[in-house]
Amino acid sequence: MKRLFIAGTGNVGRNLVGLINEYKPDARVVAMENRRGLIQSPHMTATDQEMFLLHPERYPKGEVEVDYDVYVDLRTASLNGRIEMETYRQQMESGKSIVTANKSGLANYWPEIMAASRSTEKPILYEATVAGGLPIFSMIRHSAGYFPVTSFRGIVNLTANFILKKMASGSSFESAAMEATKLGIAETNMDDDLSGKDSARKAVILGNSLFGKNLRLSGIDFSGIRRDSISNGMLLVIIEGGDHFSLRSGVVELNDSDPFLSMKPTAMAAEIGFMGRAGISISEVFDGPLETASAVLSDIIEI
Ligand SMILES: NC(=O)c1ccc[n+]([C@@H]2O[C@H](COP(=O)([O-])OP(=O)(O)OC[C@H]3O[C@@H](n4cnc5c(N)ncnc54)[C@H](OP(=O)(O)O)[C@@H]3O)[C@@H](O)[C@H]2O)c1
Repeated sequence: MKRLFIAGTGNVGRNLVGLINEYKPDARVVAMENRRGLIQSPHMTATDQEMFLLHPERYPKGEVEVDYDVYVDLRTASLNGRIEMETYRQQMESGKSIVTANKSGLANYWPEIMAASRSTEKPILYEATVAGGLPIFSMIRHSAGYFPVTSFRGIVNLTANFILKKMASGSSFESAAMEATKLGIAETNMDDDLSGKDSARKAVILGNSLFGKNLRLSGIDFSGIRRDSISNGMLLVIIEGGDHFSLRSGVVELNDSDPFLSMKPTAMAAEIGFMGRAGISISEVFDGPLETASAVLSDIIEI
């Protein structure tokens, strides 16, 4: 049975703990931490977890003494990803595997993290970093054989596209943003979503993972949404592979018949092209912390 260290007990962390207690997979939590506290025990019960989630400040931070197999990173994304990269390196060097929903490390330090993974022979799985619960990497790993990916087009940011779609149907920017917050799909601070940075981080991870590149966020151009955004406009990631590799993360004006336009404002979607086999389209009607936690749990089970 895999022993888990869960770093970050916000929306996704709480949902993950709930799923583990409900479905009892071959994994158990032996340590949890957030900014305010740390709990650790090889025999941690659901009640211990509940108490920690309610009052983390009662569990002072200190050395981690309990042994574990998988470090699960559900922390707030840092601005430049350095702290994530250093954490993963240290964890892998001490024999731990990594599962992450936090995209900042991979978007800024992909080459260093993958080099550490190769040299330590410890895996890092990151399904939830792109489009939360939409299964992109695991679907390709498990269902598309060895066919090379030639193209990707996707809705990978919910908040920005929700606001764009609501504005296209007559809402003001402010009321659309307020509705996104009320539905719980937007983070308190939407800056990264609106500036396009969140989408761009995902574009980098997609370019690296699906097309074998070594991109960094600092090396790509991206754009976000504006208050007067165009009608039929959606914030997409579009990647073309091959000799003329290109990657775009920004608002694109779509034809009226584009399937992305007829999806619900809360949808995530991806169209993936392959060499030698038909393309695959996947979509999800809603993506929230529970869906993200389910992708994290699938990665844990795979490890
Ligand atoms: N929400 C989603 O649907 C979704 C989808 C895909 C990816 N993600 C990514 O998943 C991660 C978690 O998202 P979330 O919605 O759960 O965020 P959240 O609700 O804001 O929770 C973040 C958690 O990280 C903890 N934290 C921050 N810095 C830390 C540090 N240095 N050490 C230990 N803990 C630290 C916070 O501690 P305190 O509780 O003490 O503040 C909090 O518990 C983020 O990186 C996010 O971008 C989220």
